[in-house]
Amino acid sequence: MAKKFTHATIEKNSILLLVLTLVVVAIGGLVEIVPTFLIKSTIEDVKGVRPYSPLEVAGRNIYIREGCYSCHSQMIRSLRSEVERYGHYSLAAESKYDHPFQWGSKRTGPDLARVGGKYSDEWHLLHMEDPRAVVPESVMPGYPFLAQTPLDYSQIEGGLKALALAGVPYSDEDIENAKADLEAQATPDADTDGLLQRYPKAVARDFDGNPAMISEFDALVAYMQMLGTLVDFNAYENADFKQ
Ligand code: HEC
Repeated sequence: MAKKFTHATIEKNSILLLVLTLVVVAIGGLVEIVPTFLIKSTIEDVKGVRPYSPLEVAGRNIYIREGCYSCHSQMIRSLRSEVERYGHYSLAAESKYDHPFQWGSKRTGPDLARVGGKYSDEWHLLHMEDPRAVVPESVMPGYPFLAQTPLDYSQIEGGLKALALAGVPYSDEDIENAKADLEAQATPDADTDGLLQRYPKAVARDFDGNPAMISEFDALVAYMQMLGTLVDFNAYENADFKQ
C-alpha cells in the first residue's frame, strides 16, 4: 500500500521540501510583481515637472560625484514634523527624471528636496567655500574648488542622450541645443528664450559672480536653486495634482 502523503513526507525529503518552498515563494513574488506590469503607470503626472536643463544635469552630476547624497536626502516624508520643516512632502513625480534617484538614506545635513530659492547664490558661494563661515556649528566639508574649476561640459549631449535612453523625454532638438542651452543658462544677459521654452522656470544667471567662466559651482547651484520649485503647490490648494 502506498505511503500516506503528509506534511511529514515533505519534511523528511529535503529535495521535495526545497522544490515546494520555491513554488510557494514564486507565488508570493508573482503576486507582487505582476500588477506592476499590468497598470499603466506607477507615477501620476504632475504639472510643472520637467526634465532637467543641461546645466542642471551637469550640476546634478557634480552633486553625485562629490557624494552630497551621503549626508543629504531629497525626500520629504509626509510626517507633520518634516512638512513643517521642509515644505510639502515629496511627490513621486518630482523624482521621476532622476536616474539614479537622490532620495538618500542618511541626513547628517538637512533634506535638500526644496532648497531651491531658500538662499541667495552669495550664501551658497560662502557656504560652499567654508560652511563654518555662515553656519558656525556646521560639520559639512568645504568645497572651495568648485567655484575655481571650469565646468567640463564637452559630454553634455551624450549625457542627455543617455538619460533619454533611460526614459527621460529629451527631444532631438533638446539634445542638439544642449551646449547652447547650458551656456545661455550660466551667462548673464544671454538669450534665454529657447532655454525657457524647453525648460520652464530654469534659473538663468551667473551664479558665482564670475562671468568670465562657467564653473562647477555655477552648475551645482543652478541645480540646487531649481530643487523643489517646479511644482506650484499654491495652485493645488483645493485640487489634486493630476495634469
Ligand atoms: C559630511 C556630511 C555632508 C556632506 C558630504 C555635505 N553636506 Fe551639506 N550640510 C551638511 C550639514 C551638517 C549641514 C547643516 C549645516 C550647514 O548649513 O552647513 C549642511 C547644509 C547644507 C545646505 C544648506 C541646507 C539648508 O536647508 O539649510 C546645503 C545647500 C548643502 N548642505 C549642500 C551640500 C552639497 C551641494 C554637498 C555636496 C557638494 C554637501 N552639502 C555635502 C553636511 C554635509
